[in-house]
Amino acid sequence: MSIELAKGVYWVGVTDWGIRRFHGFELSVHRGTTYNSYLIKDEKIALVDTVWSPHSEEFLARVRELVDPAKIDYVVVNHSEPDHSSSLPALMKLCPNAQVVVSKNGASSVPGHFHEKWNFHVVKTGDRIKLGKNELIFVEAPMLHWPDSMFSYLTGEQILMPNDAFGQHYATAFLFNDLVNQDELFEEALKYYANILTPYSDKILKKIDDVLALNLPVKMIAPSHGVIWRKDPLQIVAKYQEWARQKPAPSAVIVYDTMWNSTERMAKAIAEGLIEAGIDSKVFHAAAADSNDLMVEIFKSKLVVLGSSTHNNGILPSMAKILEEMRGLRFKNKIGAAFGSYGWSGESVKEIEEVFQRAAIPLARPGIKVKWHPGEEDLKLCRAYGRELAASIRAS
Ligand code: FEO
Repeated sequence: MSIELAKGVYWVGVTDWGIRRFHGFELSVHRGTTYNSYLIKDEKIALVDTVWSPHSEEFLARVRELVDPAKIDYVVVNHSEPDHSSSLPALMKLCPNAQVVVSKNGASSVPGHFHEKWNFHVVKTGDRIKLGKNELIFVEAPMLHWPDSMFSYLTGEQILMPNDAFGQHYATAFLFNDLVNQDELFEEALKYYANILTPYSDKILKKIDDVLALNLPVKMIAPSHGVIWRKDPLQIVAKYQEWARQKPAPSAVIVYDTMWNSTERMAKAIAEGLIEAGIDSKVFHAAAADSNDLMVEIFKSKLVVLGSSTHNNGILPSMAKILEEMRGLRFKNKIGAAFGSYGWSGESVKEIEEVFQRAAIPLARPGIKVKWHPGEEDLKLCRAYGRELAASIRAS
């Protein structure tokens, strides 16, 4: 069933209740997702974004409820990632003469995906397409989060369609922000930001300033995933400004993997030291935790303490995954520390510290190692290390 957002503007997307892994298997989506597509019926007919191709039939049925697809004049591709564009081939068979509206970078990435000679219409920031009473205005948003990304704004009904920005992987019965559980909504919005947009935080701050400077009135923000922000829509913009500044709480996240509980005992003792010193701390076993949820915890906290037993002269594989995700997300304003047990060669702490260096996260303290299984004296040292880390948080 399509849903009318405003006069002549309809959601024709798909709710994917069942999906639990996104980007192949890279990203966990515990609450499913939606692929949002918007149909605008004015003197001209425009469709903004499509859906992931396994859902093409459901999407096209929704479009057909409202229009004969052959009558679509413009198909706007705000972003060519397949979750939004891979129904284009099925759609364009039905409206082969429609203009496919893309950014300059989209003019490369869309043919790069589909190898079709569609009727491309390349737009840049400030360009407009008149639909009748309403116009579409385009704002390029490169690297938010692909080079081709752009925002579309509908005058008249005053709807900003920013594609991935301000989205959430959140399947819901109701499509609007005021009709869903607010804790779940903001949890999913933050998870989306932390795992996808963190590396582009500076660009986000700049782009928000640029868009606000256009003084476009915004009644709704309609992203390409999750709910549409219609009640106080700028609240999510304010949240993005807060998140993009990356000012973490004075708290600690300890993530470890362990083979025979030695590194685990160290993790708990370090946490005890931090907690004794009044620092809110959480401890996670990397092999048992969801790495994307962990990235949210890391995003929120000032101190990241990572531990691994030494295994094959390096670290355990589950920690390698955490370290690689953390490096790629380029967190700012953090301090780090490393720990681990070992039997003979003991490389794990050094390896973790090297990743902190590559991730531009300064060390709060040199790492701590314990040979074999930590005894009471070792655990005392770990607790003292936790207290020292607490002091580092307070001093930073
Ligand atoms: Fe939801 Fe970048 O695709």
